[in-house]
Amino acid sequence: MRHHKLALCEEHYLEWFQNQTERAIRKYRMFGRDDRVLVAVSGGKDSLSLWDVLLRLGYQADGLYINLGIDGGLGYSALSFQKIETFLTDRPETRLHVVDVVAEYGESVPQTARRKLRGRGKPCSVCGLIKRHEMNRIAQEHGYDVLATGHNLDDEVAVLLSNVLHWQVGYLARQAPVLQEREGLARKVKPFCRFYEREVAAYALIQGIDYIYDECPYVEGSTTLFYKGLLNRLEANSPGSKLQFYLSFLRARKDGLFSEQMEQVELHPCPVCGQPTSVPGPCAFCRLWNQQPATSNQ
Ligand code: AMP
Ligand code: FES
Ligand code: ZN
Repeated sequence: MRHHKLALCEEHYLEWFQNQTERAIRKYRMFGRDDRVLVAVSGGKDSLSLWDVLLRLGYQADGLYINLGIDGGLGYSALSFQKIETFLTDRPETRLHVVDVVAEYGESVPQTARRKLRGRGKPCSVCGLIKRHEMNRIAQEHGYDVLATGHNLDDEVAVLLSNVLHWQVGYLARQAPVLQEREGLARKVKPFCRFYEREVAAYALIQGIDYIYDECPYVEGSTTLFYKGLLNRLEANSPGSKLQFYLSFLRARKDGLFSEQMEQVELHPCPVCGQPTSVPGPCAFCRLWNQQPATSNQ
C-alpha cells in the first residue's frame, strides 16, 4: 500500500483491515456494540466484506438484500443473491431481510425506469431512489439503530469530484461518513469510506469471501466510472491523492465550510408511505407509481 507506505503479509493484513474498520467506527462515532446494525448487502465485495468484518468484531449486524430484478433469469440480481446465500451458509445464525422489488411493486427496477424515463437514459437514478427508500423502510420497520453501506474511498471520491465539478454545495454538505438520524430517517454510516477499493478487494480475497465480480450492467459508460478512471490516473501519478482529497474535504466540512448549507431542510411525512420528504405531497418514491394519498369521504 504505497499510499500508507506499508506492506503486510496475509495474516497481518486481515488484522490491520479489521482494526482500521473499528477505528473508523469509533472515530466517526458510527455505532456501538449495543446498537442493532442493518448492513445493506449487494453481493459485491464491499458490502459482503463489511458484513463479515462487523460480525467478526462482535457487532449485531443483520443484512438486507434488495432484489432489483436486473436482467431476470440468472442475471446480475440472481447471481448477487447466490453470493449472499453462499456467505450465509458459513454463518447460519445470521439474519437476512430480502426485499423483492418485483413481488413488492409489480415491476423490476429497469421496467420502472423505462416507464418513468420513457426509454431515455439509464435506470441508475430511479434505482438509487428505490434502494434508498427500501433501505430506510426496512430499517424503520424493524427498529434498527443504524443502516450501514459498503461505500469505499473510490466511491466517495468519485461522488466528491462530481459534486465539486458541479459545485453542488448542498450535496457536499450532506456527504459524510455518518448521516444522523432524523424524524423517520435512519442513521446512515459508511465504515469503509477510508479504504481504497483495492484494499477491500484484497480483504475479500484473503478472507475467502465469494462475491459477484461483475458490476451492475448499467454501470458501463457511466460518468461515475469515468471519474473513477480519472482519479486512478491521478493516484498512479501521486499515491495517496484520493485519500488526501477525501480527508481534506472532511476537515474543511468539519471546519464549517458548508455550514450554511448544513441547515436542515424541513421534512414532512409523505401522505402515502409516511417516509420523510422535503416536497409537498407524495414523496419521489410514491410518485414513481403515481400514488395519491387516500381521499376521505367525510
Ligand atoms: P452501489 O450504489 O451499487 O455502489 O452500492 C453502494 C452500497 O449500497 C453497497 O455497498 C451496498 O451496501 C448497498 N447496495 C447496493 N445495492 C444493493 C442491493 N441490491 N441491496 C442491498 N444493498 C445494496
Ligand atoms: Fe441500480 Fe445498476 S445497481 S441501476
Ligand atoms: Zn411516499
